[in-house]
Order: sequence, then structure tokens, then C-alpha cells
Amino acid sequence: MIEIKKAEIVAVTGRKDQYPSEDMYELAFAGRSNVGKSSLLNLLTNRKKLAKVSGSPGKTRTINFYEINGEFRIVDLPGYGYAKVSKSLSNSWGDMIDEYLTSRSKLLKVIQLVDIRHEPSKQDVQMYEYLKHYNLDGIVVATKSDKISRNHIKKHEAMIRKSLGMSAEDIIIPISSLKKTGQDKLLEVMDDLLSSKEI
Ligand code: GTP
Ligand code: MG
Repeated sequence: MIEIKKAEIVAVTGRKDQYPSEDMYELAFAGRSNVGKSSLLNLLTNRKKLAKVSGSPGKTRTINFYEINGEFRIVDLPGYGYAKVSKSLSNSWGDMIDEYLTSRSKLLKVIQLVDIRHEPSKQDVQMYEYLKHYNLDGIVVATKSDKISRNHIKKHEAMIRKSLGMSAEDIIIPISSLKKTGQDKLLEVMDDLLSSKEI
């Protein structure tokens, strides 16, 4: 399991020419606006206000790069499904994500976040398909697990697996940033990904 000792924001941008240099491996978070990407980042790093959290969707509208332990980065991608900006991948939001996903040679995986309560949306499915296409799929975090009862978790996990077309070896991790549960499993998975590259 990774022990996060140091986390700092190193770039906030929508522009490729302002990305940090490709000298570290990266893991990115993708998901619908308001799904809990920024909250998860704060949970993992044990910092209350590292990433801005908001009740109003569309808080994070840039690509935010966080450097962890001076060794790798977590990249918080702007959420989709906000207002009318993301009906398809062919718009400014889509271009921003596309540019990032297709240009980072050290991007190991994109961790997709979906709300554990609901059937994944069309855009969630579209996003996962897109990640599959680039071989960046395979890890899903089901957020806000505190919002359903414990004995419903397995059933909701199965629903999400089926909707996204996840394969048996793909990983789904229920997490609650509110109750601070489930994050250790994700830190283990991240550790496996990074140690396979020997950072
Ligand atoms: P954008 O930046 O708009 O893309 O949103 P985001 O995905 O970063 O979501 P954010 O972390 O800002 O959280 C959105 C809302 O969901 C906030 O009101 C959070 O407090 C709430 N939230 C996030 N995680 C959890 C959780 O695990 N449980 C509960 N109950 N609420 C959560
Ligand atoms: Mg955010």
C-alpha cells in the first residue's frame, strides 16, 4: 500500500503546452461532475482542502496535476455531464480530455469513478468504452458507498460491472470519502500499478 506523505498541486491547466514534463508516471481520475473525484483525492492524501470540493457540479474544469511523494502524479480530470458542455467527446471538454489521454506516454491507468447508487449513465459507459480503446480501463471506484446499506453493495457493484461491460479481472472498489472507507484497497491497487514500473 502506498503511504502518501506529501502531496502538492503542480499544474492547473487545460492546455497541453502547460502540462508538467513527462518525468513521472501518472494515474488519472475521470468521472461525472459531482461524483466525488476531488473528495477522493483529499481522502487519499489525507488533506481536507487539497482539491476543491463543491456541492455545485462543474467545480473542477481544468486538468489538475498533483505530485505525490515527489514520485508520481494523480491527475484530476474535469467532470463530464456538467451543463451542456459534454454531450459528446467532440467539444472543448472532450478535446481537453482527449488531448490529455492521447498525449501522456507515462499515463498508467485512468481510474473511473461512478456513483454507487445509480446505474452508470450513457456518458459513464461512453467514457469507459473510450478508456478501453486506449487500454486505460480496468479500475473503477464506486463512490459515496455510505449512501446505500452495506447489504446492497455487492448488488450495486454487479450492476455497475454489467453496465460498463467490465471483465472478470477488472477491479471495482466501493469507497466513501465521507466515512473514509475503502481507500486502502485503492492505495494497494495504485501501488501494484506503480511498482510494476518501479518508480
Ligand atoms: P467536479 O469537480 O464538479 O467534477 O466534482 P467532483 O467529482 O470533484 O466531486 P466533489 O469531490 O467536489 O464532490 C461533489 C459532492 O459530493 C460534494 O458535495 C461532496 O461533499 C459529495 N461527496 C463526495 N464524496 C462523497 C462520499 O463519499 N459520500 C457522500 N455522502 N458525499 C460525497
Ligand atoms: Mg472536482
